[in-house]
Amino acid sequence: MTSTNDIRRSFLDHFAKEGHELVPSAPLVPHNDPTLMFVNAGMVPFKNVFTGLEKRPYSTATSSQKCVRAGGKHNDLDNVGYTARHHTFFEMLGNFSFGDYFKERAISLAWSLITGTWGIPADRLTVTVFHTDDEAFDLWKKIGMPESRIIRIPTSDNFWSMGDTGPCGPCSEIFYDHGAHIPGGPPGSPDEDGDRFVEIWNLVFMQYEQVDKETRIDLPRPSIDTGMGLERIAAVLQGVHDNYDTDTFKALIAASGELTRTATNGDFKASHRVIADHLRASGFLVADGVLPANEGRGYVLRRIMRRAMRHAHLLGAAEPLMHRLVPSLVAEMGAAYPELVRAQPLIEETLKLEETRFRQTLANGLRLLDEATGAMKPGDVLPGAVAFKLYDTFGFPYDLTEDALRAQDLGVDRSGFDAAMAEQKAAARAAWKGSGEKASDEVWFDIAEEFGGTEFTGYVSEEGDGQLLAIVKDGQRIAEAKAGDEVVLVTNQTPFYGESGGQMGDA
Ligand code: SER
Repeated sequence: MTSTNDIRRSFLDHFAKEGHELVPSAPLVPHNDPTLMFVNAGMVPFKNVFTGLEKRPYSTATSSQKCVRAGGKHNDLDNVGYTARHHTFFEMLGNFSFGDYFKERAISLAWSLITGTWGIPADRLTVTVFHTDDEAFDLWKKIGMPESRIIRIPTSDNFWSMGDTGPCGPCSEIFYDHGAHIPGGPPGSPDEDGDRFVEIWNLVFMQYEQVDKETRIDLPRPSIDTGMGLERIAAVLQGVHDNYDTDTFKALIAASGELTRTATNGDFKASHRVIADHLRASGFLVADGVLPANEGRGYVLRRIMRRAMRHAHLLGAAEPLMHRLVPSLVAEMGAAYPELVRAQPLIEETLKLEETRFRQTLANGLRLLDEATGAMKPGDVLPGAVAFKLYDTFGFPYDLTEDALRAQDLGVDRSGFDAAMAEQKAAARAAWKGSGEKASDEVWFDIAEEFGGTEFTGYVSEEGDGQLLAIVKDGQRIAEAKAGDEVVLVTNQTPFYGESGGQMGDA
């Protein structure tokens, strides 16, 4: 069997041999984009190279990029554990051309790797192209794809963009047919949602930059961005259908089964998968400087951690579990990502502290949840006020409550939850007003309500970019400052530590 580590290596070697610069994975916290929470695709670190803002000494590159999709445009958190292919953390293999080659070479490089080096039979493959892209259609035909397996797709499925803004373009996806024993039809067919045909590689023909909602301009030169989920291709090359049956996940799941003395394939299957996936996300996020917190990236991390910790509790773990799985994670992935090895003590300490704290209220929260749902039937919805109490008193992030109810087929009233949250904020504001502080201080409540808190990024980096959210002068929001004005600038994130908890702020 080819290991996941070998597959990663052979992908990178293939493109290095073809003259691509081997670029190490960038950290999960993007350094070039204050609008993005986490790197969610292999192209993100190269975003400014595509748009021409940044120059590099090479025009083609290849990488295996750490990605997290748990919040923002690409969010997979809710599905993780229950499907064969959703992850919060995954690795994206890619090759990139910054104005060097375009469609033809991208397609031929992909073809020679898949059908040549890896020996995947061509008759297992199907490709899609954007419906108007005759050029891509003809190139696939020329390389040997029968027309019947080149499918034109008219929807946004075949137009890729990284977020609301940024480089984008039509794409062509390569699908692997896992075989007739699995239900599902080819892309574009009525039963495409089945799991038989699995997308393994996305070739994006980067041509445009989305500047804002209305404006799309041409990139300086047509470019290439491809992305292949390592976990998916590992499943194909290891002859399994499910990503969680590949070597890396099997090892993590086995460790979770051993430590909790539970079977990994019966009723607890989803829990072990959640734990294995979230262990990877938590470990890599902490290694890149993110720590659990109540806002921004730190809150996404906390949600991921607590979701895993609830599943550890379901497995009957009598003491904190997650930190004891870190050695297995490092054994599987530390050679490819030395930052995991360096940060191992911090990852273990962080997980242990978070789980120890959370366990103190977890059991009480779950009891409340049981009482509240005792008389409910499948399809019923938990009142938002109960979900809010779980959040406020027991530290249950909203999606944890949702996840806990999923097995019983119960929902949660999201708008009721939001209303309870708004009510609490209004009460805090009223209490503040009553305290006799200057009315002008209310401006900070307005800003916090509109944008949420400013995220502290100083654990990750001592410098950084932020989006300007508001300008305040003499206690009033102003639209624009003039030279000489003394103002306060509010940004979405900052490495400056604010004065709090008895500690002095940065100046
Ligand atoms: N950016 C594309 C994707 O994420 C290809 O790398 O699918």
